[in-house]
Amino acid sequence: MEVPTHVTIIMDGNGRWARQKGQRRLYGHKAGTDSVRACCEYAVEHGIRYLSLFAFSEENWNRPADEVAGLMELMFKSVLGERETFRKQNIRFLVIGDRSRLSAELLRNIDMVQEETAANTGLTLIVMLSYSGKWDILQAAQRYADDCLAAGRRLPLDETGFAGYLATAGIPDPDLMIRTSGEQRISNYMLWQCAYTEFYYTPVLWPDFRKNDLEEAILSYNRRERRYGKVD
Ligand code: FPP
Repeated sequence: MEVPTHVTIIMDGNGRWARQKGQRRLYGHKAGTDSVRACCEYAVEHGIRYLSLFAFSEENWNRPADEVAGLMELMFKSVLGERETFRKQNIRFLVIGDRSRLSAELLRNIDMVQEETAANTGLTLIVMLSYSGKWDILQAAQRYADDCLAAGRRLPLDETGFAGYLATAGIPDPDLMIRTSGEQRISNYMLWQCAYTEFYYTPVLWPDFRKNDLEEAILSYNRRERRYGKVD
Protein backbone atom coordinates (compact mmCIF):
# COMPACT_ATOMS: atom_id res chain seq x y z
CA MET A 1 0.00 0.00 0.00
CA GLU A 2 1.33 3.40 -1.01
CA VAL A 3 0.86 5.83 1.85
CA PRO A 4 0.01 9.40 0.80
CA THR A 5 2.47 12.02 2.05
CA HIS A 6 -0.23 14.46 3.13
CA VAL A 7 -3.75 13.47 4.16
CA THR A 8 -6.21 16.21 5.02
CA ILE A 9 -9.63 15.69 6.60
CA ILE A 10 -12.75 17.84 6.70
CA MET A 11 -14.21 16.49 9.94
CA ASP A 12 -17.95 16.80 9.42
CA GLY A 13 -21.09 15.47 11.06
CA ASN A 14 -20.46 16.02 14.76
CA GLY A 15 -23.73 17.92 15.17
CA ARG A 16 -25.81 15.25 13.41
CA TRP A 17 -24.14 12.49 15.40
CA ALA A 18 -25.04 14.26 18.65
CA ARG A 19 -28.61 14.93 17.53
CA GLN A 20 -29.08 11.24 16.68
CA LYS A 21 -28.22 10.55 20.30
CA GLY A 22 -30.49 13.29 21.63
CA GLN A 23 -27.49 15.29 22.83
CA ARG A 24 -26.21 18.84 22.35
CA ARG A 25 -23.80 19.59 19.49
CA LEU A 26 -20.80 19.95 21.77
CA TYR A 27 -21.22 16.32 22.81
CA GLY A 28 -20.51 15.42 19.18
CA HIS A 29 -17.44 17.66 19.02
CA LYS A 30 -16.08 16.04 22.19
CA ALA A 31 -16.63 12.57 20.74
CA GLY A 32 -14.84 13.82 17.60
CA THR A 33 -11.60 14.15 19.55
CA ASP A 34 -11.48 10.33 19.85
CA SER A 35 -11.55 10.13 16.05
CA VAL A 36 -8.72 12.69 15.89
CA ARG A 37 -6.66 10.50 18.21
CA ALA A 38 -7.39 7.34 16.19
CA CYS A 39 -6.32 9.04 12.93
CA CYS A 40 -3.11 10.35 14.52
CA GLU A 41 -2.28 6.87 15.75
CA TYR A 42 -2.89 5.41 12.30
CA ALA A 43 -0.76 8.14 10.69
CA VAL A 44 2.13 7.44 13.08
CA GLU A 45 1.83 3.67 12.62
CA HIS A 46 1.84 3.91 8.81
CA GLY A 47 4.35 6.69 8.32
CA ILE A 48 2.01 9.36 6.93
CA ARG A 49 4.20 12.50 6.98
CA TYR A 50 1.47 15.17 7.23
CA LEU A 51 -2.04 14.94 8.67
CA SER A 52 -4.07 18.15 8.57
CA LEU A 53 -7.50 18.53 10.12
CA PHE A 54 -10.07 21.22 9.35
CA ALA A 55 -11.13 21.97 12.92
CA PHE A 56 -12.72 25.41 12.63
CA SER A 57 -13.46 27.56 9.59
CA GLU A 58 -13.70 31.34 9.36
CA GLU A 59 -17.43 30.76 8.74
CA ASN A 60 -17.72 28.77 12.00
CA TRP A 61 -17.33 32.02 13.96
CA ASN A 62 -20.97 32.67 13.02
CA ARG A 63 -22.20 29.70 15.06
CA PRO A 64 -24.00 30.30 18.40
CA ALA A 65 -21.62 31.83 20.95
CA ASP A 66 -21.87 28.90 23.37
CA GLU A 67 -20.89 26.41 20.65
CA VAL A 68 -17.91 28.56 19.58
CA ALA A 69 -16.79 28.95 23.20
CA GLY A 70 -17.19 25.21 23.80
CA LEU A 71 -15.20 24.34 20.68
CA MET A 72 -12.40 26.73 21.62
CA GLU A 73 -12.22 25.24 25.10
CA LEU A 74 -12.07 21.78 23.55
CA MET A 75 -9.15 22.82 21.31
CA PHE A 76 -7.45 24.39 24.29
CA LYS A 77 -7.78 21.24 26.42
CA SER A 78 -6.86 18.93 23.54
CA VAL A 79 -3.67 20.87 22.73
CA LEU A 80 -2.53 20.83 26.35
CA GLY A 81 -3.70 17.27 27.02
CA GLU A 82 -1.71 15.74 24.16
CA ARG A 83 1.72 17.22 24.92
CA GLU A 84 3.01 13.95 26.33
CA THR A 85 1.74 12.02 23.29
CA PHE A 86 3.49 14.48 20.96
CA ARG A 87 6.75 13.97 22.84
CA LYS A 88 6.51 10.19 22.95
CA GLN A 89 5.38 9.83 19.33
CA ASN A 90 7.84 12.42 17.95
CA ILE A 91 4.90 14.46 16.53
CA ARG A 92 5.40 18.02 15.32
CA PHE A 93 2.30 20.08 16.06
CA LEU A 94 1.24 23.08 13.99
CA VAL A 95 -1.80 25.35 13.96
CA ILE A 96 -2.62 27.21 10.76
CA GLY A 97 -5.27 29.90 10.40
CA ASP A 98 -6.24 33.49 11.13
CA ARG A 99 -4.53 34.07 14.47
CA SER A 100 -6.08 37.52 14.86
CA ARG A 101 -9.40 35.94 15.87
CA LEU A 102 -8.03 33.53 18.49
CA SER A 103 -7.82 34.42 22.19
CA ALA A 104 -4.48 35.43 23.68
CA GLU A 105 -4.65 32.47 26.07
CA LEU A 106 -5.24 29.92 23.31
CA LEU A 107 -2.46 31.49 21.22
CA ARG A 108 -0.04 31.29 24.13
CA ASN A 109 -0.71 27.57 24.54
CA ILE A 110 -0.56 26.89 20.81
CA ASP A 111 2.79 28.68 20.57
CA MET A 112 4.15 26.80 23.56
CA VAL A 113 3.25 23.40 22.09
CA GLN A 114 4.47 24.41 18.63
CA GLU A 115 7.85 25.42 20.07
CA GLU A 116 8.05 22.30 22.23
CA THR A 117 7.48 20.02 19.22
CA ALA A 118 9.30 22.06 16.54
CA ALA A 119 12.29 19.70 16.35
CA ASN A 120 10.21 16.50 16.23
CA THR A 121 10.79 14.54 13.04
CA GLY A 122 7.83 12.13 12.87
CA LEU A 123 4.29 13.00 11.84
CA THR A 124 3.46 16.69 11.34
CA LEU A 125 -0.04 17.17 12.76
CA ILE A 126 -1.68 20.35 11.51
CA VAL A 127 -4.85 21.78 13.01
CA MET A 128 -6.50 24.22 10.62
CA LEU A 129 -8.12 26.64 13.02
CA SER A 130 -10.01 29.79 12.02
CA TYR A 131 -8.95 28.93 8.49
CA SER A 132 -10.51 29.41 5.10
CA GLY A 133 -9.12 29.02 1.61
CA LYS A 134 -10.12 32.50 0.41
CA TRP A 135 -8.70 34.08 3.57
CA ASP A 136 -5.41 32.29 2.89
CA ILE A 137 -5.16 33.42 -0.74
CA LEU A 138 -6.06 36.99 0.26
CA GLN A 139 -3.51 37.22 3.05
CA ALA A 140 -0.88 35.82 0.67
CA ALA A 141 -1.74 38.47 -1.94
CA GLN A 142 -1.57 41.19 0.70
CA ARG A 143 1.83 40.05 1.93
CA TYR A 144 3.15 39.85 -1.62
CA ALA A 145 1.87 43.40 -2.23
CA ASP A 146 3.61 44.55 0.96
CA ASP A 147 6.89 43.06 -0.27
CA CYS A 148 6.44 44.84 -3.62
CA LEU A 149 5.82 48.14 -1.86
CA ALA A 150 8.88 47.64 0.33
CA ALA A 151 10.98 46.82 -2.76
CA GLY A 152 9.51 49.75 -4.71
CA ARG A 153 8.76 47.56 -7.74
CA ARG A 154 6.60 44.65 -8.88
CA LEU A 155 8.52 41.56 -7.77
CA PRO A 156 8.52 38.51 -10.03
CA LEU A 157 5.99 35.88 -8.96
CA ASP A 158 5.31 32.31 -10.06
CA GLU A 159 3.23 29.49 -8.56
CA THR A 160 6.00 28.28 -6.30
CA GLY A 161 6.68 31.83 -5.14
CA PHE A 162 3.01 32.48 -4.42
CA ALA A 163 2.68 29.21 -2.49
CA GLY A 164 5.46 30.55 -0.27
CA TYR A 165 3.11 33.34 0.88
CA LEU A 166 0.28 30.95 1.79
CA ALA A 167 -0.26 30.05 5.44
CA THR A 168 0.69 26.47 4.47
CA ALA A 169 4.11 27.49 3.11
CA GLY A 170 6.61 24.64 3.40
CA ILE A 171 3.91 21.96 3.67
CA PRO A 172 3.38 19.78 0.59
CA ASP A 173 -0.07 20.02 -1.01
CA PRO A 174 -2.52 17.35 0.20
CA ASP A 175 -2.50 14.12 -1.82
CA LEU A 176 -5.79 12.95 -0.34
CA MET A 177 -8.68 14.98 1.06
CA ILE A 178 -11.29 13.10 3.07
CA ARG A 179 -14.68 14.55 3.99
CA THR A 180 -16.99 12.71 6.34
CA SER A 181 -20.77 12.77 6.79
CA GLY A 182 -21.77 12.47 3.13
CA GLU A 183 -21.27 16.13 2.20
CA GLN A 184 -19.48 16.54 -1.12
CA ARG A 185 -18.15 20.09 -1.05
CA ILE A 186 -14.80 21.79 -0.52
CA SER A 187 -16.41 24.48 1.70
CA ASN A 188 -13.75 27.14 1.25
CA TYR A 189 -11.01 24.83 2.50
CA MET A 190 -7.51 24.65 0.94
CA LEU A 191 -8.57 26.08 -2.43
CA TRP A 192 -5.11 26.67 -3.89
CA GLN A 193 -3.51 23.62 -2.27
CA CYS A 194 -6.14 21.11 -3.45
CA ALA A 195 -5.61 21.78 -7.19
CA TYR A 196 -4.56 18.14 -7.79
CA THR A 197 -5.76 16.49 -4.60
CA GLU A 198 -7.78 13.27 -4.76
CA PHE A 199 -11.12 13.67 -2.96
CA TYR A 200 -12.73 10.91 -0.94
CA TYR A 201 -16.20 11.19 0.54
CA THR A 202 -17.69 8.86 3.12
CA PRO A 203 -21.13 8.83 4.77
CA VAL A 204 -19.51 7.99 8.15
CA LEU A 205 -20.08 10.81 10.66
CA TRP A 206 -16.83 12.17 12.12
CA PRO A 207 -17.29 10.83 15.70
CA ASP A 208 -17.68 7.31 14.23
CA PHE A 209 -14.60 7.60 11.97
CA ARG A 210 -11.89 5.14 12.98
CA LYS A 211 -8.63 3.64 11.69
CA ASN A 212 -10.42 1.20 9.37
CA ASP A 213 -12.27 4.14 7.73
CA LEU A 214 -9.00 5.98 7.17
CA GLU A 215 -7.49 2.83 5.73
CA GLU A 216 -10.45 2.44 3.35
CA ALA A 217 -9.86 6.00 2.09
CA ILE A 218 -6.17 5.28 1.54
CA LEU A 219 -6.96 2.05 -0.31
CA SER A 220 -9.33 3.99 -2.58
CA TYR A 221 -6.55 6.56 -3.17
CA ASN A 222 -4.23 3.70 -4.09
CA ARG A 223 -6.62 2.48 -6.80
CA ARG A 224 -6.58 5.87 -8.53
CA GLU A 225 -4.26 7.01 -11.25
CA ARG A 226 -2.96 10.54 -10.76
CA ARG A 227 -2.14 12.19 -14.07
CA TYR A 228 -1.84 15.90 -13.17
CA GLY A 229 -3.43 16.85 -16.49
CA LYS A 230 -1.09 14.67 -18.54
CA VAL A 231 -2.18 11.71 -20.68
CA ASP A 232 -0.28 8.86 -19.04
C1 FPP B 1 -18.07 19.68 11.94
O1 FPP B 1 -19.25 19.09 12.42
C2 FPP B 1 -17.04 19.75 12.98
C3 FPP B 1 -16.54 20.90 13.51
C4 FPP B 1 -16.99 22.25 13.09
C5 FPP B 1 -15.53 20.89 14.57
C6 FPP B 1 -14.51 19.78 14.55
C7 FPP B 1 -13.79 19.82 15.82
C8 FPP B 1 -13.42 18.76 16.57
C9 FPP B 1 -13.63 17.34 16.19
C10 FPP B 1 -12.77 19.07 17.87
C11 FPP B 1 -11.46 18.48 18.09
C12 FPP B 1 -10.42 18.88 17.16
C13 FPP B 1 -9.12 18.83 17.45
C14 FPP B 1 -8.14 19.06 16.36
C15 FPP B 1 -8.60 18.54 18.79
P1 FPP B 1 -20.58 19.93 12.37
O2 FPP B 1 -20.75 20.62 13.68
O3 FPP B 1 -20.57 20.84 11.19
O4 FPP B 1 -21.63 18.79 12.19
P2 FPP B 1 -23.04 18.86 11.43
O5 FPP B 1 -22.72 19.16 9.99
O6 FPP B 1 -23.60 17.49 11.64
O7 FPP B 1 -23.86 19.92 12.08
